[in-house]
Amino acid sequence: MQSNYVKQLLSKMTLQEKIGQLQQIAGDFFGDDGSPITGPLSTYKVSKTQLYNIGSVLGVSGAENVLKIQREYLKNNRLHIPLIFMADIIHGYKTIFPIPLALGSTWDPELVKRVAQASAAEASASGIDVTFSPMVDLVHDPRWGRVMESTGEDPYLNSLFAKSFVDGYQGNLPVDEKHVAATVKHFAAYGAPEAGREYNTVDMSEWRFREQYLPAYQKAIESKALLVMTSFNILFGIPATGNKYLMRHILRRELGFNGVLISDWNAINEMISHGVASDSEEAAEKAIQAGTDIDMMSFAFLGSLEKLAMKNEEVKKLIDEAAARVLNLKDALGLFDDPYRGVDAAKERQIVLSQENLGLAKKAAEEATVLLKNQHQSLPLDSNKAIALIGSKANTGDLLGNWSWKGDPASTQTIKSALEDHFDNILFEAGYDMVSAENNLSLNEQAISSAKKQDVILYVAGLSASQSGEASSMTDISLPKEQLDLLRKLSKLHKPIITIVITGRPLDLTEVDRLSDAILLPWFPGTAGALAIADIVSGKTNPTGRLSMTFPKSVGQIPIYYNYYNTGRPLTGTLEDRNNIYLSKYIDSSNDPLYPFGFGLSYSNYTLKDLRLSKKEFTADESITASVTVKNNSKISGTATVQWYIHDLVGEVVRPVKELKHFQRVQLGAGAEETVTFTVSKQDLSYVHADFTRVSDAGSFKLLVGFSSQTELETSFLLKN
Ligand code: BGC
Repeated sequence: MQSNYVKQLLSKMTLQEKIGQLQQIAGDFFGDDGSPITGPLSTYKVSKTQLYNIGSVLGVSGAENVLKIQREYLKNNRLHIPLIFMADIIHGYKTIFPIPLALGSTWDPELVKRVAQASAAEASASGIDVTFSPMVDLVHDPRWGRVMESTGEDPYLNSLFAKSFVDGYQGNLPVDEKHVAATVKHFAAYGAPEAGREYNTVDMSEWRFREQYLPAYQKAIESKALLVMTSFNILFGIPATGNKYLMRHILRRELGFNGVLISDWNAINEMISHGVASDSEEAAEKAIQAGTDIDMMSFAFLGSLEKLAMKNEEVKKLIDEAAARVLNLKDALGLFDDPYRGVDAAKERQIVLSQENLGLAKKAAEEATVLLKNQHQSLPLDSNKAIALIGSKANTGDLLGNWSWKGDPASTQTIKSALEDHFDNILFEAGYDMVSAENNLSLNEQAISSAKKQDVILYVAGLSASQSGEASSMTDISLPKEQLDLLRKLSKLHKPIITIVITGRPLDLTEVDRLSDAILLPWFPGTAGALAIADIVSGKTNPTGRLSMTFPKSVGQIPIYYNYYNTGRPLTGTLEDRNNIYLSKYIDSSNDPLYPFGFGLSYSNYTLKDLRLSKKEFTADESITASVTVKNNSKISGTATVQWYIHDLVGEVVRPVKELKHFQRVQLGAGAEETVTFTVSKQDLSYVHADFTRVSDAGSFKLLVGFSSQTELETSFLLKN
């Protein structure tokens, strides 16, 4: 709905002014005092008049900076229409929270909402109105560097997190000064590039797209996200940015999205390289026809829309519609009432990096950390243990991860310094050198000689921030060779080895698993990550993280995910399998992952018992309640994550072997037990049929429950007609 103000404004605007609203530029067009810089103007052939009609800017922040640019701009814009400032606030502004894949490992949507709220508060205090987040792209392939920006492989879990992010960023509409508008990206299916290679072809059936990939975008839109970003990839043969069916039919008509659709960076012009447009003008036409409202940095709209509108009345109408949507966004952000949205430098200093936000960053890092192995209860470590702390990653602030634009690794606490607050006897050696391989021999010798003197080896390994994120696809997802070599040497000392892995993507940890007694996975844990790690290592905090993405045994198993479909010749694990070679399997590897979806250990030991159903049969207008009792059998209190999965035995189309439908995080004191329930309704049993309707069918279902996707107890029930 357009407000009267927006309607009136539109009626006063020239065609050029409307087109200006549809072009987005980077912040380097403006100098420190807010005035235009000639370099970018001439590179992109933008005149000063055009500049003062531009609708939005990306990548600028800082209260003073934003105030200057906005003031100068408003002086020069004929109708005093404020600019919108947009930026990538992906996992925090200056207080950096764990990367989104790590936030996925919290299995705690409420916490993620608080993280998004805190990120929005810092960003808006620094002059940002819109964040290019959340990225809700479902992922199956850890070779793709951007898995770090996703919450994982599961449609249900991703949908919950999509809602948390949008609710946390935006608060209630209209967006107030403490919040920012959210951009759901990248529409659509950007997370499925062939072979995990960045920007590569995406090709899947529409049925699969709707079943697995669409739900998280849909949830974000239902949660009233104000923007959607197009993806770089093709889908159903056409680049998303010019894909009319995808945008006008699925996004706008079916999902009811009426907010702003912004292209990804230069994605309009990239339709020329894709080979679906011969020049920028044709690309601009395809994009506006498909429903793209804002051109981020390809200047196709600024350069061609006027010409196109002269030739074609329909384009004129589409420009009006797109401009109205951009103005509506400005209205929803309150920019017409206060173009500065209450920004001031003193407030910014108070909010950014506040104690409260740092505390939340620590809490999030604790919950995101996954304990992958803990043989002989090697962790936690007693405070009197003599520790050999090995690995240059232990002594660096490179813990923030990619897309932490405003985070400062140089002032980020290191794991070494955080551990020193808990343990008196630490000998640190960098070992391998991540920068220069020549040093490794002598550094490794020193590391080994220190390790010989101590009780236990704490080995901090992993990747650097730039080894995941955009344009960081990899074919080898093992630890770097130098790190593995050192681990092999350390393992010959026959001392307990605890390996801490810093990474933005699932890795092939098969050998690390064999050589380590315990493995802790904090991912890139953010500003307060080192504190969280030290608390977990010392036992002050009991780990609760669960994987939201499967870890393969080798790169050859990729793509690997828990909710696969049975084939006609499935591997069932029964005795008959042994005599049958014609099964869906490898001859050189098992089908099983190294660590399954949902997996994560605790210092406590939990069991499940007494799985019960309120009845065995129900009709579509009824429901069934399942209950199970979870017990903490240890002397340490902790949080168990009870996970409920469903398997539809016979469908009209194939059904996954398991689908996560519900879960509870249950806090349990030493020896305590609690009964938890899951009420199953027909919505939980619905799925996308061949005609794309999402409905449930009568039939038999399995209900499975456990602490990971490798479930422990199961029962069955019948949905009647
Ligand atoms: C990325 C987007 C991002 C945009 C703006 C692009 O390269 O794909 O996710 O929001 O840049 O920085």
